[in-house]
Amino acid sequence: MKILLLHGPNLNLLGEREPDIYGKMTLAEINRLVKAEALKLKMKIKAFQSNHEGELIDLIHAHRKWADAIVINPGAYTHYSYALRDALASVEPPAVEVHLSDIRKREKFRRHSVIADVCAKQISGLGWKSYIEALRFLAKRR
Ligand code: DQA
Repeated sequence: MKILLLHGPNLNLLGEREPDIYGKMTLAEINRLVKAEALKLKMKIKAFQSNHEGELIDLIHAHRKWADAIVINPGAYTHYSYALRDALASVEPPAVEVHLSDIRKREKFRRHSVIADVCAKQISGLGWKSYIEALRFLAKRR
């Protein structure tokens, strides 16, 4: 199973960005742990991070035939990017929306995801383990 793993804006600063909310682990460390889990589940991962909406959309388009599924932490785009939502809705591979923090328990503007209803699942609030749960969810449903 081939997984496109996408990290949205500001996630490149994980480790130093609001560690009390997002944890102390860097994005490179998270990617390493996710790839280790993927290996156990016999999955192949391509991981990207971008601070640009259009670049995330281009990556979804470019991998739409390659990927069997998409795991995406859209960062703040979660809450307002109809363009990202449309991109996920436009392609065949199912997506899992992932968040490190529990967006339901934070500021009001974070409680709503415009992405969620075009995703197969939303996993939120488990820190870096949200990504692991996303892989396990996809492994179970294949
Ligand atoms: C986040 C939650 C978003 O509200 C925020 O804008 C992020 C990270 C998370 O992983 O908890 O950048 O997606």
